[in-house]
Amino acid sequence: MPPRLRSLIAIAALLATACGSTGGDESADTVPPTSLAATTTTTTAPTTTTTTTTTDPTTTTTTTTTVPPTEAEGLGDSFYPFLGNGGYDVLHYDIDLDVDPATNTISALTAITARATEELAAFNLDLSGLEIQSVTVDGTDAGFSRSGHELTVEPDDPIAAGSEFETEVAYSGSPEAIDDPGVSFFKVGWQQQDGVIYTASEPSGAMTWFPSNNHPTDKATFEIRVTVPEGLVAAANGLLASEMTENGKTTFVWRMDDPMTTYLAAVYIGGFERMDHGPLYDGGPLLRDYVPGDSPPEVANALSVTADVIAFLEELLGPYPFDAYGTIVMPFPLGFALENQTLSLHGNDTLAPFIIAHEVAHQWLGNSVAPDDWSEIWLNEGFATYLHLMFAAEHAGTNLNDDMTALHAQLVGAGAGPPRGIEVEDLFGLTVYYRGAATLHALRLHSGDEAFFEILRAHYDRSVGGTTSTAEFLALVDEMAGPAAMDLVESWLFDDAVPELPDAA
Ligand code: TRP
Ligand code: ZN
Repeated sequence: MPPRLRSLIAIAALLATACGSTGGDESADTVPPTSLAATTTTTTAPTTTTTTTTTDPTTTTTTTTTVPPTEAEGLGDSFYPFLGNGGYDVLHYDIDLDVDPATNTISALTAITARATEELAAFNLDLSGLEIQSVTVDGTDAGFSRSGHELTVEPDDPIAAGSEFETEVAYSGSPEAIDDPGVSFFKVGWQQQDGVIYTASEPSGAMTWFPSNNHPTDKATFEIRVTVPEGLVAAANGLLASEMTENGKTTFVWRMDDPMTTYLAAVYIGGFERMDHGPLYDGGPLLRDYVPGDSPPEVANALSVTADVIAFLEELLGPYPFDAYGTIVMPFPLGFALENQTLSLHGNDTLAPFIIAHEVAHQWLGNSVAPDDWSEIWLNEGFATYLHLMFAAEHAGTNLNDDMTALHAQLVGAGAGPPRGIEVEDLFGLTVYYRGAATLHALRLHSGDEAFFEILRAHYDRSVGGTTSTAEFLALVDEMAGPAAMDLVESWLFDDAVPELPDAA
């Protein structure tokens, strides 16, 4: 196997196996379980969800049963049934964070504009940790209670079905990253490391720093306002609307005017330097990167591939979906990168062209078009991986077909299972990334380039700004390339054995 391909595979291996030592906060070990998983609610005593632990752990007689969430507690995601909440649809988040990096504490106010989809005597938000000072609904104090990450709000008067309402949550404390069953290599959410604060939330970690309807099916626009000690820089998603310094503090206001899922919302605070490159073309997205203040020239050099990547992907998919794009580079290695909307998170070790291409590709597929359930993650990672492999082959002048043949042999050797038959633990593993990518290559070989690229573009076009599913993709393949093509894609996604790559059409 060529060394380059080995490194492509290594990133998935890294994602799947890297140890937790890159996570910022050691004390996060003590975070109570957040009942994210589908499996268990403790029922030692029927009236409480508290686990009783005896002195001898072997005699603990805790029994567990599967208790599905109520409609208020969760949206019934296959892997994360307790994420998100029913009964309303968020339109806009206004997140105001006053951050003290020295103590890693925040004093925060998040205002959520939502529309009730039914009459609401009470509703839930997702928030993990932190102390809540007050909750208001339409300016009036509301009752609230907390259990795990479920925050239940009881407005004075029920909210009428169809009406728009604003919930304000005032909260403070030290945000703590949480365990996530899909991410073994990292605690997700708010992070602090080496003088930098950043967020890496996918899938569940957004609730470590703002209250939300924490599921990709509920997209909203965002304004993120971050106040930091003068001299530090705060970045977030979208466009920087204003920056103002007063009494030794600087407030950065960031606006994301296109719909965004909660897991892609991000803040970054540190001694960063902004590199402005202007619009990619007249009317095109603004390109800007954030790098550590003392970065060597190799960093700017590595980032210079970004414009080529966007141009390459615009050819295939259509115009870049958002107002801006850039990379923020941490002053330390991460072993991974993350496609936070319009400003991807990279370590100083993950700036290879194919990784930059991967995170840029997610802006179309994953971000603008999000999965409607976490079990559909191959729609993010398989597509982004195939597109980064295409870019890498073009960039390095190698033959993509040869690369994919070598990859196929690797998948067979590894016994990679079906991307649509995974467990939550496999969310960011080899099967999802590489068998997902090979699925698309197989479709391309079967149907020919013309049909394949039409399908790819239609898949994106149909769901711009929204969500999609494997069922929708299969229907599209059926419609545009016929039932045999659909059967082939189905076997790649659902059968245990890795199918053979078809001969080119
Ligand atoms: N989506 C990321 C990628 O493919 C991987 C990822 C998922 C991740 N969850 C994460 C990275 C949490 C960092 C933290 O590039
Ligand atoms: Zn990815």
